[in-house]
Amino acid sequence: MTTLASGVKTFGNFIDGKWIPASSGNTSENRNPADNRELLGIFQRSNEPEVNLAVEAAQAAFRKWSRVPAPRRAEILMRTAAILEERKEEFARDMTREMGKVLKETRGDVQEAIDTAYYFAGEGRRMFGLTTPSELPSKFAMCTREPVGVCGMICPWNFPMAIPSWKLFPALVAGNTCVIKPAEITPLSLMNLMGALTQAGLPAGVVNVVTGHAHEVGKVLTEHPLVRAVSFTGSTEVGRIVGVSCSHTFKRCALEMGGKNPMIVLDDANLDLALEGALWGAFGTSGQRCTATSRIIVQKGVYRRFAEELAKRAQLLRIGNGLDENMDIGPVVSRQQMETVLHYVEIGKREGARLACGGDRCDNAGCGHGFFVEPTVFTDVEPKMRIAQEEIFGPVVSLLPCNSLEDAVEIANGGDSGLSSALYTRDVNRALEAIAGLDAGIAYIDAPTIGAEVHLPFGGVKQSGNGHREGGVGALDFYTQWKTVYIDYSDRLQRAQIDRPE
Ligand code: UN1
Repeated sequence: MTTLASGVKTFGNFIDGKWIPASSGNTSENRNPADNRELLGIFQRSNEPEVNLAVEAAQAAFRKWSRVPAPRRAEILMRTAAILEERKEEFARDMTREMGKVLKETRGDVQEAIDTAYYFAGEGRRMFGLTTPSELPSKFAMCTREPVGVCGMICPWNFPMAIPSWKLFPALVAGNTCVIKPAEITPLSLMNLMGALTQAGLPAGVVNVVTGHAHEVGKVLTEHPLVRAVSFTGSTEVGRIVGVSCSHTFKRCALEMGGKNPMIVLDDANLDLALEGALWGAFGTSGQRCTATSRIIVQKGVYRRFAEELAKRAQLLRIGNGLDENMDIGPVVSRQQMETVLHYVEIGKREGARLACGGDRCDNAGCGHGFFVEPTVFTDVEPKMRIAQEEIFGPVVSLLPCNSLEDAVEIANGGDSGLSSALYTRDVNRALEAIAGLDAGIAYIDAPTIGAEVHLPFGGVKQSGNGHREGGVGALDFYTQWKTVYIDYSDRLQRAQIDRPE
């Protein structure tokens, strides 16, 4: 790592405990989306040679790391958590500057990594396997969890520290070694996390960071024969490419992809609570969560009132630089993201939805050099419209009227995705009916679609995922494989299925 005269740092890849530049000499700038004039750092735009080096370093470190007792590996996670706690404010500020979301959210992002570290540190002394009776006498049967090997990780930009921690910490406590790629536009937060792991005593080569583009670094990682598992979080479109690529070498592959998460508001709901939840679910993180509330399906009796009130309150949200504690919403992450979001606004208008508020780039004072988009509410949206079907990943929410709970669940289940879902009602029967009926990996009652906790399974159904779960014990299932062990202490040959009592 070097520092230019301007004070701007150039970061290498972090491979085998050393800073390694890209052999091509190419780099990328990391700029603040709230004020594009601010340069945060220069990062390597790596390619195949760096990925190969990183995978070889991880492979070499595997033998030793996988033999370290899990409770000892866990101690490193415990120390990492303590370091993250100590440096939480500094890391949150760096994250707001590189990614845009407001400070209270970036503090939450670092906290999510802290929670994940403590949770998986606890697994160091659990990591339960199975014992079960053998069908034969004097024979013992059990299954233990073993690490998979070198794991490749491809991360998104919306949770630049939390999501890498969901991937790294279960992998590490289980004894795997890792090569991890941050999103091109948020590498600094992963470098901060890597710094904490190193300071906590993680041996060189156990985690290696390679920065660069998905179609360069990510592609090589998914194809490399020594990589045994790949965990990807990102769009459904890229997830499909990752899944196909992993299949050629039969890698284990966990895909965490897009959502179009519905919130249902029934006539009997506590409307104030639902409105507060809608604002947080739709506009928190500028709508850039795969769990964001992007469709609100409201029963006809309260639809008009809800729509008017939502648009009114959305316009009161304060937009600006996330480092300002008074702000509710920061910028979207990049110019390209802003353009995509504004393009969807045009599509919505063309399709005939009613724009109730927002829809433009925000021109508040102080927003001129950033990528700020106004919180946007479309009403009278129909289920077939593209804005009700496609993930926008920005501060845009679509309101759809419905007649009944059954009607609402049918609309909610209408698309290809199924990550998160929510229902507001005071009727316990209807709540339980919805929990059973919603095609989604996560269902919230009287809370919006965002806000998953780290010790519960996280993931979606249909095209939101491929069946794996992050968080909780599900993550351990992905990063371990079963070793089935039979111990015959009868001192004679016993044949399963064949030697049966007369
Ligand atoms: C994501 O949007 O990719 O449940 C992850 C939540 C967060 C994680 C979101 N804890 O909204």
